[in-house]
Amino acid sequence: MPNAVITGTGGYVPPRVVTNDDLVQQYGIDTSHEWIHRRTGINERRFADEGVGSAEMGEKAARLALEAAGLEPQDLDMILFATLSPEFCFPGSGVLLQERLGLCEGPRARFVPAMDIRNQCSGFLYGLGTATSMVQSGACRHVLLVGGETHSAALDLTTRGRTVSSLFGDGAGAVVVSASDEDRGIRGWWLGADGRYAEVLCQKVWDIRRRPFIPQNEEGVGQVEPDMMWAHMEGKRVFRAAVERMCEAVLTACTAQGITGDDVDLWLFHQANMRINQYVANTLGIPDDKLLHNIDRYGNTTAATIPLLLDEAVRSGRLQPGMKVAMVAFGSGFTWGSAILDW
Ligand code: ACO
Repeated sequence: MPNAVITGTGGYVPPRVVTNDDLVQQYGIDTSHEWIHRRTGINERRFADEGVGSAEMGEKAARLALEAAGLEPQDLDMILFATLSPEFCFPGSGVLLQERLGLCEGPRARFVPAMDIRNQCSGFLYGLGTATSMVQSGACRHVLLVGGETHSAALDLTTRGRTVSSLFGDGAGAVVVSASDEDRGIRGWWLGADGRYAEVLCQKVWDIRRRPFIPQNEEGVGQVEPDMMWAHMEGKRVFRAAVERMCEAVLTACTAQGITGDDVDLWLFHQANMRINQYVANTLGIPDDKLLHNIDRYGNTTAATIPLLLDEAVRSGRLQPGMKVAMVAFGSGFTWGSAILDW
C-alpha cells in the first residue's frame, strides 16, 4: 500500500481587510473591537468582492499547491472540495473548480471525478481522510483537496446578526495528496459526528420538506424569512462541545498512533475561536509555541482554516521535514476529526 503524502500546499485570502472597527463604522453593527477580540481573538477578517465565489478562491489556492507539488492540473486523478458556501445549491464547487483548472476542454481534457464535501468546519479533515483512502487504495495517484469559503455573502451584517457575523471570513486553502513510497505522510485520521445537534449550528435558507421549499408571495417570488436566511448558532453549546470533542479527537489520534502530545512538533487546530483553542491546549498541556493561529487575521474560514495554517507553516519554514503534525477540527453537524502526519 502506498503512503499518502501532502506534496504541495497553497492558500489564498481576498485582499479586502475588514477590521472589527470596520464592522462598527462601515456596517453600523453595535459591537466593538474589545468585545470581539476578548471573546474570540479575532482582529480582522477578509471579505471577497461581489462576483467572487469559493471556486475562484479555491482555484488560486489550488494552483499554488499544484506548483509546489511540481504538478499540472492534468496530473490530478480527483478533486475534492470542502465547503459550506458553494456557489449554488447544486452542482457543487468541485466541478466549477475542475472547469476553472482547464480540465474540461481541449486535447488535454481530463474528466476526473470532482466531489464536494459538506462537513463544515471539519470538511478539510473529512476530505483528508477521503483523499488518503483514495491514494492508499491505489484508486488515485494525486488528489487535489481544497477547503474554501465565501462567508461574507451569507452573513447578517447588522446588529441582529452580530453574534455570528463577527466570527467569519473568506478564504481558501489547498493541498495535493499523492501516492509515495517514502516512509512518511498521513499516518492516520479519525472522524466523528453526532446528528442530535444538527440544528444547534445550521443555516437552513430553505427546508426541502416544505411545499414549495421556499414560501412564495402572490407574484411567485420566493420569500426567505430572516430566521431561515441567516445562520443559527447556540454559541455556548457549540463552545462546550467543541472543547470536549477536540480533546477527545486529539487523544484518540495519539493513542492510535502510540504517541503522546509531547511527540507532536506542530498542532494545527481549526480556527473557530481562540478561546476554544486555548482551552483545548491548556487541557492537553500543549505549549503555545507548538500551536499556530490565523484566527486573529482571518476569522473563522471554516473548511479553509487548517489548509491555510498548513500553507503558512510550510512557506514560512516553520514546518520542516521530519516533523510530526497533528490536526484537529470541530464544527456544525456536530462533526469533528483529527489527523496525524509525518512531514
Ligand atoms: N458584539 C457585541 N455584543 C455581542 C456580540 C458582538 N459581536 N455578539 C453577541 N453579543 C451580545 C449578545 O447579544 C448578548 O447580549 P445580551 O446579554 O444583551 O442578550 C451578549 O453579547 C452575550 O451573548 P452570548 O451569545 O451569550 O455571548 P458568549 O459569551 O456566548 O459569546 C460567542 C459568543 C463568542 C459566539 C461564543 O459563544 C463562542 O465563541 N461560541 C463558540 C461558537 C463558535 O466558535 N462558532 C463558530 C462556528 S462553529 C465552529 O467553527 C466550531
